[in-house]
Amino acid sequence: DSAVEAQGPLAGKIIAISAGGTREPLDPVRFLGNRSSGRQGVALANAALAAGASVRFIAAHMDVPAPAGVELSTASTARQLQGAVTEAARGADVLIMSAAVADFRPGEYQDSKIKKSDDHADPVITLIRNPDILATLVKQRASEGEAGTLAPLIVGFAAETGDAESSVLEYGASKLARKGCEMLVVNEVGENLTFGTTQNSVTILFADGAQPVAAAGSKDEVAVAVLTAVAQALSTTGT
Ligand code: CTP
Ligand code: CA
Repeated sequence: DSAVEAQGPLAGKIIAISAGGTREPLDPVRFLGNRSSGRQGVALANAALAAGASVRFIAAHMDVPAPAGVELSTASTARQLQGAVTEAARGADVLIMSAAVADFRPGEYQDSKIKKSDDHADPVITLIRNPDILATLVKQRASEGEAGTLAPLIVGFAAETGDAESSVLEYGASKLARKGCEMLVVNEVGENLTFGTTQNSVTILFADGAQPVAAAGSKDEVAVAVLTAVAQALSTTGT
């Protein structure tokens, strides 16, 4: 019965969630893409729905179907996703950017299929920077000030690998500061970790200095941990 009010810690809240991976076309048949399956985004949507929220789901390319019961929009490229996410973040309480956005796109799109040339010259693909959707939204929100309607709680996802210089969490902390969002879910990735798998291990970092929260398990379990942190953050800020 649609007249029944939603119950749960996120009842009455609107949560926008981006999911999947963008594709940047080279020609009509080829693209640069990534291995994001969209599964974490679907798990986040289901956890948000279960907690009573309304969900605006912005799907890039996914290996799995979009969840039922959401307001769905779709996007292919990073620039299309930017438009759809910005629209969905308007009037939302929370934006969760779980989509894997291509940092670069081919500088030139060929409107007919690229052919092997007869001179055996190896083609060179020049890449140019895509907009940073999350960082741009944070800046736009700040410039709109008190009267603005962009989501007051923005959550980023960061897939990181540690190296000799810094640990996964050190990279996460500096990314959180650089992006300016309220929360960052830091995910350790590697050849056999995370992408396309069902097991996950994350640390949730908070810009307000709250203690980091660790969560591990299935993508559903990680999603519940993220939405619990979101509900907690909303209740402490009183929004
Ligand atoms: N993101 C975005 N727009 C981009 C790239 C990333 O909105 N052009 C978002 C992602 O959806 C994610 C967060 O930013 O929520 C972090 O993505 P990540 O790729 O880890 O960050 P980058 O700033 O692109 O840093 P890196 O050079 O490590 O890829
Ligand atoms: Ca990136």
